[in-house]
Amino acid sequence: MIYNSFDNPGLVKILTFLQTHNTEYLSGQDLSDVLRISRVAVWKHIKKIKELGYTIESKQKLGYKLISNSNLLLPWEITSNLKTKIIGQQAYYFDTIDSTQNQALKMADDTSHNGSVIVASKQTGGRGRAGRKWISPKGGIWISIILQPKFDISITTLFPIASALALSIAIEKTFSIKPELKWPNDLTIKGKKVAGMLVDVSLESNRIENLVLGVGINFDVNVKQIEKSLKGTPNFYGVATLSEQKKKVKPIQLVQTFLVELEKIYKLLNAKQTKRIIFEWTSRSSTIGKNVELNTVDTKIKGKAIRIDEDGALMVSENSKEHRIIAGDIIHMSK
Ligand code: BTN
Repeated sequence: MIYNSFDNPGLVKILTFLQTHNTEYLSGQDLSDVLRISRVAVWKHIKKIKELGYTIESKQKLGYKLISNSNLLLPWEITSNLKTKIIGQQAYYFDTIDSTQNQALKMADDTSHNGSVIVASKQTGGRGRAGRKWISPKGGIWISIILQPKFDISITTLFPIASALALSIAIEKTFSIKPELKWPNDLTIKGKKVAGMLVDVSLESNRIENLVLGVGINFDVNVKQIEKSLKGTPNFYGVATLSEQKKKVKPIQLVQTFLVELEKIYKLLNAKQTKRIIFEWTSRSSTIGKNVELNTVDTKIKGKAIRIDEDGALMVSENSKEHRIIAGDIIHMSK
């Protein structure tokens, strides 16, 4: 099942009408007259709307009434009243896909897709950082965003870090909790991973052609099941899910808030205002001030994380030496 935000005008017209008149019953004839859609089409659209997870009460002689909205991240819900200029103004929804990131990469060269969002309910081949798999069952938010930025290549490494900041702000605004930021792009709650970012960049002669930002959010997932499949794999340090929070939030609220925050950050990056991003990221970071360890095939660094650089590199002090870590997975040791 694939939907986009612009190819279903009849369905969206009926749905919007039901959503804005949800205290009354609307007859098929009234919907047909007001919206200038045939009775048969009204009936077909209502059937589809129900299949998509909206609850509609139908009463003989009275008509239809919308009782509740769908929990799916349907594309017209993402674009509806979204307060952004570019990001999320077009959306594509897949019921099941291998990876929204792979799908977005296929679309990224087309300039009409700048800001487009690809969402899936479930991924069968979700990709994580460093070639790892990303477990993406139903209940999570799996989303990729295509961008054709104006900023310089030097900003590329800061971009996922800045995007993690945008998500942390969005979660704070919706759930009233403040997830911590673990370098480079992880969001954690009580030390366990709740979300991660992945960026694929396409460069052409020293210029960014496009970026695809992949965001995985454990919104309402079975933590035990995911932990079971990930235990013992690199960079595994526990899984958290937002559904454990007291406050109940609809996935669409979080996605829309995130897209708005992401666009604000994107504007700052385009205006080269990196200092503000670094300051905000640092204030939410659980990495800075901690003793950290980095193990790669040819290096082993152990020291105190002191700050991040202009390009997002992590500065670690080890005895009197300072190391600049551009990429990799760190382990938090202690304060
Ligand atoms: C990480 O390793 O922390 C990054 C995880 C990114 C996962 C997201 S889910 C949506 C998008 N599609 C993918 O295949 N991966 C990213």
